Amino acid sequence: MLFRTLDNLDVAGKRVLLRADLNVPVRDGKITDLTRIERLCPTIRELAGKGAKVIVCSHFDRPKGRRVPEMSLAPMAAALGQVLGQRVRFAEDCTGVAAQQSVERMAPGDVLVLENTRYHAAEEKNDPAFAAELAELADLYVNDAFSAAHRAHASTEGVAHLLPAYAGRLMQAELEALDATLGNPQRPVMAIVGGAKVSTKLELLGNLVTKVNVLTIGGAMANTFLAAQGIEVGKSLQEAEMHATARDILAAAKTAGCEILLPTDAVVARELKANVPTQTVAINAVPADAMILDVGPATVATLNGHIAALRTLVWNGPLGAFETPPFDAATTAVAQAVAAATQAGTLRSVAGGGDTVSALRHAGVLDKLSYVSTAGGAFLEWLEGKTLPGVAALEG
Ligand code: 3PG
Ligand code: MG
Repeated sequence: MLFRTLDNLDVAGKRVLLRADLNVPVRDGKITDLTRIERLCPTIRELAGKGAKVIVCSHFDRPKGRRVPEMSLAPMAAALGQVLGQRVRFAEDCTGVAAQQSVERMAPGDVLVLENTRYHAAEEKNDPAFAAELAELADLYVNDAFSAAHRAHASTEGVAHLLPAYAGRLMQAELEALDATLGNPQRPVMAIVGGAKVSTKLELLGNLVTKVNVLTIGGAMANTFLAAQGIEVGKSLQEAEMHATARDILAAAKTAGCEILLPTDAVVARELKANVPTQTVAINAVPADAMILDVGPATVATLNGHIAALRTLVWNGPLGAFETPPFDAATTAVAQAVAAATQAGTLRSVAGGGDTVSALRHAGVLDKLSYVSTAGGAFLEWLEGKTLPGVAALEG
């Protein structure tokens, strides 16, 4: 890969603008998950430890160019200070006098968080004058926000062309993990793709069939593939208008020599509710008044058999309606098999996407895969084979 890392970079006394992704989940004003903040700390510690003045910038939520008070980064600055175990200062704006004065007061090793970049409409427009104002605050730019790299914004893309630009340790870890799964993987490689809709993962499926040896399709999107082949799926969620597309993807897989695994059995119920009565049926025996809510044990056994022989796995999307027990069973069983093979050293496993991370946490294996990406949209766009503007700008 062509980007520059922090290796051998002299930052002593220098002002470093660090693009982070502090877009953390918040409920009722409280941060509910610190993962993105925790993953950022190695880069900050390394820079601050070498005597840099670390100026952190990020967006939060979508204020659309207005100063929405509930979308301030002040709580994230406080949380960062706690996780780092170091005082973190906060500037009320990311550009202008407030930012400049805060930066002027910094000593080597200090950490400052700037207010939400999206309070300025110029951020999302990738406005060159706004990017230049950000660049004036610093001597160097480090991007550690892989999860925002699918956005060509001033703080993720524009500014990278105005300062010497480097990948932070989190960005580097994400890119190396992803490259090892689809860029240059050890084979055989399998992808597991689940979730509700084929329509949102069309480009992703199209790209994956050209890259992996086996593609497992689960979740409600599998129902669309089954129905497209004339299998009765009863009242299951599916997209009738995507049948032709599903058949095209199956044909493309055949041409590319990619084996597609669809469920051969299913757990069905009359309603999606916790602990309702269920039935396990062969895939060609789904009752007309029932819904498929999880893949069945025979499908899990087939999948786990593949996992034992795999070298590389990339996973996005749960296999069933995992938030509602017992429809978490298959996802949890497969997650545990993936974790075991990874821990045994036979498998490199990479997962990403919001639901996938929740499902892995639910299965108790979040820290037992080779790498779990903190990215949502950026992970999907990367699976689609797209160039991410924030990454491309580091390579230029
Ligand atoms: C994310 O949470 O996926 C990133 O921070 C990007 O946020 P966005 O979808 O609002 O651009
Ligand atoms: Mg988002």
